[in-house]
Amino acid sequence: MLIKRPPDIAPSEITPRPLFDDRRRLILKAGLGVAAGAALWHGRPAPARAAAKLDALPSALSTTEAQTAYKSITTYNNYYEFGTDKADPARNAHKLVTRPWTVRVEGLAGKPRSFDLDQLLKLAPLEERIYRLRCVEGWSMVIPWVGFPLAALLKAVEPLGSAKYVEFLTHYDPEIMLRRPVLDWPYGEGLRLDEALHPLTILAVGLYGELLPNQNGAPVRLVVPWKYGFKSAKSIVTIRLTEQQPPTAWNRAAPNEYGFYSNVNPAVAHPRWSQASERRIGEIRKRPTQLFNGYAEQVASLYQGMDLRRNF
Ligand code: MTE
Repeated sequence: MLIKRPPDIAPSEITPRPLFDDRRRLILKAGLGVAAGAALWHGRPAPARAAAKLDALPSALSTTEAQTAYKSITTYNNYYEFGTDKADPARNAHKLVTRPWTVRVEGLAGKPRSFDLDQLLKLAPLEERIYRLRCVEGWSMVIPWVGFPLAALLKAVEPLGSAKYVEFLTHYDPEIMLRRPVLDWPYGEGLRLDEALHPLTILAVGLYGELLPNQNGAPVRLVVPWKYGFKSAKSIVTIRLTEQQPPTAWNRAAPNEYGFYSNVNPAVAHPRWSQASERRIGEIRKRPTQLFNGYAEQVASLYQGMDLRRNF
């Protein structure tokens, strides 16, 4: 993001949707989701696409727009710990060991505690959330995530009245990840508590009905569909409730380019390029970017009275 203008993805890299649609086998049944999902974490991770499917409930919050091809979603990534080229994460992230995994939820909580993956999956039934993802670089995708509301996790630790923000810190292991300080590792992100509790905000554990590939942030990542993609911290290990606004990786790296809020806003240009339009991966013609990435009806009230140019 900081380094160069968005490169374009070659059409040859994009696999036709029907090829991947065939592989989608979501069993849309309540209850089963948690049990089957939890069982998966115990299995040996499959080297390529996981053969096992995550059961997930459909969600009324999903878009019906055409979904981006699995291959594009999993080979055109930003995960700078594994390299700054879009193809690097798919090449290098297999080094990340995601089992066992623990997420510590701490800070201003009545019941701070750690969750292993089985415990995370028991917090709420898994849902399929098909969301638009808009990157600040100017491209976008439509991704069928599998996850559950972050609110389910936060409520389990009982946030104190003094908690106003949520900080997310991600895994950093210099043995397998970049040592160069491209960003200030570990990668950190933050949300206001009301944003974190919003029903659109999820922790994703899968996509296209399967466990998340490492390059997409396995085993658990944040997804906040009305914000630029860089808000979606990958491979989360710590979630901290705080009173003060937490620092965030991109804001620390370039405060005039990346603000804390990072709401998708076509009216507020990045200092080096416009945010008025975007190119959906797999399409040629650009399309206009929508305020809050098209989720204004659900989230605009969170920002009532705020100057969104100043709070960019
Ligand atoms: N999380 C970590 N830990 N490291 C990163 O470099 N990049 C962010 C975000 N989460 C990043 C991260 C950026 S810039 C984007 S656009 C999204 O992940 C990309 O998610 P995707 O590769 O699954 O599309």
